[in-house]
Amino acid sequence: MLGAVQLGLFAACVVLFVPMGMAGWHLSRNKMLFFSGALFITLAVGVHLTPYFPSVSDFVTSVSSIVVLDDRDSCFSSLHEIDWEVKARPDFNPLSNNSVNYEKSWYWRRSSSVDSCEFQKLKRPDVADLLNGSWVMVAGDSQARFFVLSLLNLVLDSNQMELARGSLFKRHSNYQIVVDEIGMKLDFIWAPYTTNLTDLVMGFKQKRNYPDVLVMGSGLWHMLHITNASDYGVSLQLLRSSITSLLPISPEFGTDGPVTGSVSVRSPHLFWLGLPTLINSMLNTEKKREKMTDLMRVAYERELKESQILQQFGGPLQLLDIGSLSWNCGIRCTDDGMHYDGVVYEAAVHILLNALLIESHQKL
Ligand SMILES: *[C@@H]1O[C@H](CO)[C@@H](O)[C@H](O)[C@H]1NC(C)=O
Ligand SMILES: *[C@@H]1O[C@H](CO)[C@@H](O)[C@H](O)[C@H]1NC(C)=O
Ligand SMILES: *[C@@H]1O[C@H](CO)[C@@H](O)[C@H](O)[C@H]1NC(C)=O
Ligand SMILES: *[C@@H]1O[C@H](CO)[C@@H](O)[C@H](O)[C@H]1NC(C)=O
Repeated sequence: MLGAVQLGLFAACVVLFVPMGMAGWHLSRNKMLFFSGALFITLAVGVHLTPYFPSVSDFVTSVSSIVVLDDRDSCFSSLHEIDWEVKARPDFNPLSNNSVNYEKSWYWRRSSSVDSCEFQKLKRPDVADLLNGSWVMVAGDSQARFFVLSLLNLVLDSNQMELARGSLFKRHSNYQIVVDEIGMKLDFIWAPYTTNLTDLVMGFKQKRNYPDVLVMGSGLWHMLHITNASDYGVSLQLLRSSITSLLPISPEFGTDGPVTGSVSVRSPHLFWLGLPTLINSMLNTEKKREKMTDLMRVAYERELKESQILQQFGGPLQLLDIGSLSWNCGIRCTDDGMHYDGVVYEAAVHILLNALLIESHQKL
């Protein structure tokens, strides 16, 4: 039989930690309060009954082992379990293109593992809340531009969007906007090659200042203009080591050149924007069709994997898998076999936001 003191301590721990565990399942504050209250009552009753029913203490012990489960990793890996609905529009016109002719929507797959993560398409106020006061930077090629457009679509109104679209799509230029209402600063940095990304990261290190959320991606330009997968791999490894040396805390890498001094000891949230599915026959120039073959794309993917820059292979960056999103949305979601409809990048934005939610809940 347990002593009253141990039991009391145990009860206090359960009341404290079960709701914290629940936070991993994205319960709202109200639901957490409800759980705390319900648990408190259950345990109070349990504590008083325990001396009379030895089996109750066994029951209480078995409950504690259930709630210790950590679902964080499984939720990260379920983030891309997205299904698409692509339907021909009623006013289908064979002369116009896919973007116009097909209606697309997406949702997280219905399955118990995905349901328990409670992913959500965040609305404007939620996004405002989440990104309030943050500095977000997206660096890369045109894919990254489309990603920025989808992110802005969640925080700006339609007039502001028109303005943003105009300045964002100036050829080969950077772009910056401060969304005053939520105090969010967003930078797009034109960085078509991995070496450009490495330069950017080295710059953060020198200035001892870096964004809260950093999304990077490259590969298409390298594939088109250099067409050498192993060279791409080398450039990714350089990027990886420059990022690793930037991170103040990186459990995976031990003491690999930590930044010391006045830099705050927070880590940025790092994401990698993956290569899209390439539909060779739809690519719009001869050079693209010749260089950007399926075989070459596979070789580039392999280099990405082997560079170990992604979290799933032990690296620092979390993948936003444009490859699988665009593959699943399919041929009706692209006009040029390389850039996809806004809805594909929108899904990637929601994946990023939900990943941030998982991470921030864990920090509570
Ligand atoms: C096809 O889509 C592009 C944008 O993706 C648009 O600029 C172009 O006008 C469209 N073409 C037709 C024939 O609708
Ligand atoms: C952002 O945070 C500040 C305080 O840090 C708060 O005053 C403001 O209302 C917040 N804005 C939004 C849109 O959440
Ligand atoms: C990106 O890198 C390439 C090759 O290293 C260089 O020629 C180019 O000027 C860089 N572009 C930018 C925008 O920094
Ligand atoms: C491809 O890149 C690698 C590594 O940079 C280099 O050693 C090799 O010579 C390049 N191959 C070709 C065909 O240029």
